[in-house]
Amino acid sequence: MRMIDLIEKKKRALPLREEEIRYFVEGFTAGGIPDYQAAALLMAICFTGMTDRETAWLTDAMAGSGDRVDLSAIPGIKVDKHSTGGVGDKTTLILAPLAAACGVPVAKMSGRGLGHTGGTVDKLESIPGFRTDLDRRAFLKIVETVGVCVAGQSGNLAPADKKLYALRDVTGTVDSIPLIASSIMSKKIAAGADAIVLDVKCGSGAFMKTPEDATRLARKMVDIGRACGRRMAAVITDMDRPLGHCIGNGLEVAEALEVLEGKGPEDLREVSLVLAAQMLSLAGKGDPALCRQLAQNTLDSGAALEKFRQMCQAQGGDVSVFARPKSLYEKAEVYELSAPMGGWVCRMDAEACGRASMLLGAGREKKDSVIDPAAGVVLCCKTGDAVERGQALARLYTNVPERLEQAKQALLESYVIGPQKPEPQPLVYDVILGL
Ligand code: URA
Repeated sequence: MRMIDLIEKKKRALPLREEEIRYFVEGFTAGGIPDYQAAALLMAICFTGMTDRETAWLTDAMAGSGDRVDLSAIPGIKVDKHSTGGVGDKTTLILAPLAAACGVPVAKMSGRGLGHTGGTVDKLESIPGFRTDLDRRAFLKIVETVGVCVAGQSGNLAPADKKLYALRDVTGTVDSIPLIASSIMSKKIAAGADAIVLDVKCGSGAFMKTPEDATRLARKMVDIGRACGRRMAAVITDMDRPLGHCIGNGLEVAEALEVLEGKGPEDLREVSLVLAAQMLSLAGKGDPALCRQLAQNTLDSGAALEKFRQMCQAQGGDVSVFARPKSLYEKAEVYELSAPMGGWVCRMDAEACGRASMLLGAGREKKDSVIDPAAGVVLCCKTGDAVERGQALARLYTNVPERLEQAKQALLESYVIGPQKPEPQPLVYDVILGL
C-alpha cells in the first residue's frame, strides 16, 4: 500500500477501504508516514468528506491505537458524558455526582482547557489538594467505593488521535465533521463506558456555529457510538451565551456547588437536568421524563452535593470549600465593568467572554501556560437582560492587573446592547437518540 494512492483517491472523493484507513492510522502513529502526507490526506478529507463507514473505521482504528479502559469489574451500566466545549460549561461537576447519587456509576476522564474554553480537570484542581492524576487502579477503586471519579486522562488512550489532532491544529484541518466526530468518539470508546451522552454545543462560543451543523455532528457521533455497541444520546445546547454566570476555574466550581445545593442559575440547572435525564435513562432508570424528575429530586434533596463531597474527599480535595466556596476565588482582585449605555443585552459573543477570562489568568494561551484558579469573570447581565447606563455588566477577577484593560475591552465587545428586548433564544435545540 502507498500513502500517495490514498491521498489521490481521497482527492477524487473516492471512499477508502478499511485496510487503507488502518494503514494510514497505524503508519502515522508509528512514525512511518510523514506529517506532510498525513496533512495532505486530512486536507482532502476536509474537502471531500468521508462516508459513515469510513468514519466508523477511522474511529475504531484510533480507539484501538492505545489502551482501552476495562470497566467490567464495576457492576451496572457505566455512563460517560462529553461536551464539545464551551464557555462557563461546568455541567460535568454537577452531572457526575448527580448520576452517581442516582445509583449510576460514573468513571469519567476529562481534559484541561485551552484557549477560550475551560477544562474540567483545571476546574477540579482549583479545589486545594484535589488530585486528578490518578493511576488506573486508584481511579477504578474510587468508582467502586464512591460511585464516581473524575480524573485526567491516564495511560495511553487513543494516541493516534493525539498525534493527528496536533497536526490538524496547525494545518487548518480541524473543522471537518467526520474528523471531529471520529476524534471525539475514539477517546470515548477507548474510555470504556457502556453509555455515552454528548452535549453538542452550538453558537458563538462553540466549534459548531449553527444548530444544523451541530445536529450533523451529533448524528454522526451517535451513529459511530451505536456502531461500536454503545448506548448513545446527544443533546444540542446553546453556546451563544456562556452557561451560567461564572467563567474561570474556582468561580465555576462555586457555581456548580450552588446548583448541587438546589439553587444556581436557571440555564445551568436546566441544561444539567436535560443531560442528567438522558444519562439516567440510558442507564435503564426509566424514560427521560421520569429520569428528569429523579435528577431534580436528587439535586433538591442534597444527595448529589453529598456525593460530590465524597468524591472530593476520595480524590484528596479540601472539603472545607463546601462550607466556604468563596475561598475558591477570593485570592483575586475584583474589578467592575460597567455598561456604557442603557437598553437590552441583545447578543453576546461567548468566545470573547472566554477570551477575557483567559486574559485574566483563568485559561491557557499555550499548552504550557500556568493558570490562576481564582481568576475569571462573573457576568452580571446576559442576553435578554435590561441594563442601565453605568450598571455593572460583569466583575473581573485577576492577579494580573496589567491585562485588565485588554480583558475589559474583549468583554465589552462581547456585549451587544440595543433598544429592544431580543426574542428569547432556545437553550436546548434538540435531543438525538441512538435508537
Ligand atoms: N475535540 C476533539 O477532541 N477533537 C476534535 O477534533 C475537535 C474537538
